[in-house]
Amino acid sequence: TRRIAIFASGSGSNAEKIAEHLTNSTDVEITLILSNSPKAGVIDRARRLHIPVLLFDRTTFYESSRVIRLLQEQQIDLIVLAGFMWLMPSELVQAFPNRIINIHPALLPKFGGKGMYGHFVHEAVVAAGETESGITIHYVNERYDEGQVIFQARCPVTPTDSPEDVARNVQKLEHEHYPRVIADLVAAL
Ligand code: GAR
Repeated sequence: TRRIAIFASGSGSNAEKIAEHLTNSTDVEITLILSNSPKAGVIDRARRLHIPVLLFDRTTFYESSRVIRLLQEQQIDLIVLAGFMWLMPSELVQAFPNRIINIHPALLPKFGGKGMYGHFVHEAVVAAGETESGITIHYVNERYDEGQVIFQARCPVTPTDSPEDVARNVQKLEHEHYPRVIADLVAAL
């Protein structure tokens, strides 16, 4: 069995879609959901899905190796970031080479980097008058949104679209593609 750990800071809609998609397959399990935020919606979803949760704070994450050790003890094969808003410590990135992926709600390299997450991305896309946006699934390195691209999908942005409209269309793409791309990556491990 391949074992996946999901990091999430937000509502957790992607985490839930991934879990739903993968329950059909007997050779993959979501072993653990990790979060920096006790108030995140993802925590309730994890409980409902009967997936164990680990909450951690900044000091634990950046100044101890507890999270890395746990991931190693649990023999995690793939780390999936699904709306996780903290930079991965380089020690963690080095401990899991090519085993950490992220989804970004825009067409990288545009609209990436520190501070470009969630709603801010869609606001920037609309403000720039872009005619399209989309999703980027990529490997994670020590810098925000700069790892090798695995997959992109696009959606049109019309002049009347609000950031909320763009967010809705991008989220649809995320839910449609992220679970499938993860299943493919795991199958190839
Ligand atoms: C998703 O749109 C994801 O692409 C974005 O956060 C949202 C989480 O939604 N991630 C980033 O902005 C990372 N820089 P969710 O909690 O409903 O899955």
